Amino acid sequence: MNVLVTGGAGYIGSHTCVELLEAGHTPIVVDNLCNSSEVSLRRVREITGKEVVFIRGDVRDEALLDQVMEQYRPACAIHFAGLKAVGESVEKPLAYYDNNLRSTLSLCRAMARAGVKRIIFSSSATVYSGDNEMPLGEDARTGGCTNPYGWTKYMCEQILRDAAKADPEWSVVLLRYFNPVGAHPSGLIGEAPNGIPNNLMPYISQTAIGRLPELRVFGNDYPTRDGTGVRDYIHVVDLAKGHVAAIRHLMEHTGEAVFNLGTGQGYSVLEMVEAFQRVNQVSVPYRIAPRRAGDLAVCYADPSKSARELGWKAELGLEDMCRDAWNWQKKNPNGYEA
Ligand code: NAD
Ligand code: WQD
Repeated sequence: MNVLVTGGAGYIGSHTCVELLEAGHTPIVVDNLCNSSEVSLRRVREITGKEVVFIRGDVRDEALLDQVMEQYRPACAIHFAGLKAVGESVEKPLAYYDNNLRSTLSLCRAMARAGVKRIIFSSSATVYSGDNEMPLGEDARTGGCTNPYGWTKYMCEQILRDAAKADPEWSVVLLRYFNPVGAHPSGLIGEAPNGIPNNLMPYISQTAIGRLPELRVFGNDYPTRDGTGVRDYIHVVDLAKGHVAAIRHLMEHTGEAVFNLGTGQGYSVLEMVEAFQRVNQVSVPYRIAPRRAGDLAVCYADPSKSARELGWKAELGLEDMCRDAWNWQKKNPNGYEA
């Protein structure tokens, strides 16, 4: 089955392409490469020995989407394309609203014109409001986002929910990712952030390899086991497999469904650093720094609905995440750049 994959050259998209190919699907990738490299898709071909179709272009370009629909007749779409840096979204809110909302609207319109009304959307745990009890079930309160990036996810969820409400032929799956980390075990694809990483795991890897001098641990006075922030880290290969499971659901149901993709297990920043050092036998120098604005103390999923209804659960653990992140970092010290 042909699956339109917007943003498929990116971190989560490229790993999902591998799992789609392994499951017998053909990814049709549309990506403008604003935060990725075409090399990732070459590596996907190398891992799987199978072909990925790649069209370089912007998802906001509806004429392009019409052509892609006409030529490849996908059965459904997975919409990864978007800007995702929280700090940058505070500095450039209009660019974030434009890219993330307009790409979703263009895609839905082009899909509707082509009669393709099945979509999986990359949402985020960031849509949950900060005042919920842990773990977060899918019915926890949403909203009260602390940055424009989070609001774009919240608004796109609403757009898709309303589209499904207005037309009973639509099938919409909203996947709320917790903290994706790690890389394909081959070390051929992984996370290649531009500039200084915002997220913890790439920061740890780049510190371990000596590209960055030390990790700053943002706060050690949270009400947690060791005072540092706790998150639900999920191996990107597990996350990618969650999309294959979601496609099965998408093809069998109409209406809207929301699923958490997390492990249900929280680890603190210091636990992550300790695990990375122990598993990889490397040193990660760090110092305690002030809290980062907008951070929660603790955030982790209740993934039981995904287990029950998608038949999916995360299988890889913290050691796999640390080992695979380091394997990718060592083999590709400059990401996809030679
Ligand atoms: P990424 O930046 O690696 O991938 C996004 C891809 O979309 C990139 O290849 C980029 O070039 C492409 N893109 C962006 N705007 C585009 C446009 N207008 N037209 C065509 N292509 C465009 O990010 P990722 O980590 O793989 O994230 C994928 C999706 O998952 C994003 O929507 C992100 O918001 C969401 N998400 C990510 C995380 C995370 O921590 N990585 C967590 C929750 C949700
Ligand atoms: C994890 C923990 C930090 C960096 C973000 C987005 C969220 C989602 C995933 C897209 C926190 C601490 C981090 C560092 C640190 N993305 N940390 N030093 O903030 O949970 O979520 O990415 O949807 O929307 O907000 O992830 O990796 O930035 O931080 O101490 O240099 O690591 O304080 O406790 P976060 P993160």
